[in-house]
Amino acid sequence: VVLHLDARELKMPPGRSGWTPRGIVAYSKICTHAGCAVALFRKPTFPTVEPQEALICPCHYSTFNPFTGGTVTFGPAGRPLPQLPLEIDAAGHLRAAGNFSGRVGPGWWNVREQPTFRKRAV
Ligand code: FES
Repeated sequence: VVLHLDARELKMPPGRSGWTPRGIVAYSKICTHAGCAVALFRKPTFPTVEPQEALICPCHYSTFNPFTGGTVTFGPAGRPLPQLPLEIDAAGHLRAAGNFSGRVGPGWWNVREQPTFRKRAV
């Protein structure tokens, strides 16, 4: 998912300062809890009573902060949304500048890589 945020409000983790050209950020849309689509973007209309904008997975309401590297602010997800580094090339095209910051999807998606499963598949 790609968002255009106010660059002045970004507080990216160390080493990611160049990943957000002009305030544009990109994250995996696959929830790190159970793999559902992070399909909602919360845009508060009443700043005095509601928190900042957020990416939300409607399945179990995991909430991710797009201003801080996709960190989890609420719900059962155990790790941030993986972030994709972006760049704008000489022709003005928005491009991925590398791979995701971490494994995409929930942690249990690696069960196929367990040695016992591989033996059965051969
Ligand atoms: S799959 Fe996203 S909160 Fe559970």
